[in-house]
Amino acid sequence: MKKPFIFLLMLSLVSSAFAQGNNYAQNYHKFDGLALTPPMGWNSWNKFACDIDEKIIREVADAIVSSGMRDAGYTYINIDDCWHGQRDSLGFIHADPVKFPSGIKALADYIHSKGLKIGIYSDAGSQTCGGRPGSRGYEFQDALTYANWGIDYLKYDWCNTESLNAEGAYKTITAALRKAGRPIVLSICEWGDNKPWEWAEPIGHLWRTTGDIYNCFDCIKDHGTWKAFGVLAILDMQDGLRKYAGKGHWNDPDMLEVGNGMPQNEDRAHFAMWCMLAAPLIAGNDPRQMSKETLQILTNKEVIAVNQDTLGIQGFKYATKDSVETWLKPLAGGDWAVCFLNRAKTPASIQFDWQEKTIFDELSQRELNAKDHTYQLKNLWTGKKSGSTAKPLRANIPAHDVLMFRLSAK
Ligand code: GLA
Repeated sequence: MKKPFIFLLMLSLVSSAFAQGNNYAQNYHKFDGLALTPPMGWNSWNKFACDIDEKIIREVADAIVSSGMRDAGYTYINIDDCWHGQRDSLGFIHADPVKFPSGIKALADYIHSKGLKIGIYSDAGSQTCGGRPGSRGYEFQDALTYANWGIDYLKYDWCNTESLNAEGAYKTITAALRKAGRPIVLSICEWGDNKPWEWAEPIGHLWRTTGDIYNCFDCIKDHGTWKAFGVLAILDMQDGLRKYAGKGHWNDPDMLEVGNGMPQNEDRAHFAMWCMLAAPLIAGNDPRQMSKETLQILTNKEVIAVNQDTLGIQGFKYATKDSVETWLKPLAGGDWAVCFLNRAKTPASIQFDWQEKTIFDELSQRELNAKDHTYQLKNLWTGKKSGSTAKPLRANIPAHDVLMFRLSAK
């Protein structure tokens, strides 16, 4: 053979192997273009745990619409653990025939007819955390089933995974979802054990960074073999993770406990901080019977706008003084969100001189420069205009509460 021919042959072999390699890589890649801002919705676990049925899910969907939550952005109605019945002789999973007699497809149709989307839950191991059938060994079959049902979001847990490798297991389910062909948001729920922020960006759209949230502001609940964490404990565990988040791939500090019993100030602070973190906003209360205060917190449009900002940059802790933390989040168009969090059980007074120094955020390359520029302030919880950065801020913050502003560049 002539030399140029051999050269061309080798070149084509190498490039086809390369293309194959790319195809394989592509197979393990999530659906792009989903969750470009943090996903918003509702999930059954925090309030109902395993006590769910199709009536509750339908009524919650109705309430999400009638309360105005849907229009505020809460789109996904996510069924968590314990919807499962058994696998049939061919291995296909079915819903619990007593709790979900109409089946998941009918529920999905109902939820879609309300202008909402539906999420479901499974587990990378042999069983879910609640002891229901897991997806291990059935990944492609389950993904096909979910796609046939019209599922839009999958939360994929990490119980009973024995010797599995986390990155490998989540790649398998993302490959299965891709093959099934329906764009589905993949919510990775392995509690941060294997640092998913370091490997999950191509695989999932959000990943849990911690163990489960517990419905308290400042406590840790020890369950013996595992612990659940209050709002402040979870907040502290987000340290160092912001650089991993961005459009289509979010740190998930777990679902909201707003409306589940904390006092209003603590619920407000919890919600505000989740918004500063660009966290997924998955409500975990009972929207069929929520108080006016809970609804006001969950549907505060301007606080949600901080969370949903199109720049997609997670906020950061800028300073700590005594019990008060100052958090900043750069927003599109040169605006900033600023949130003062009082962690103490007593009120705190603060003073903040906007002009003291120019603040530069390396990650987003954004500058908060109140020396050369005057920003207008709006208090996002009272909805009132609050002067500008021309004057230092002096304020009192009640116990376990926040003071949150939007600084407008224009
Ligand atoms: C794990 C998850 C929770 C919830 C339960 C269900 O603990 O972290 O969010 O899904 O399982 O059993």
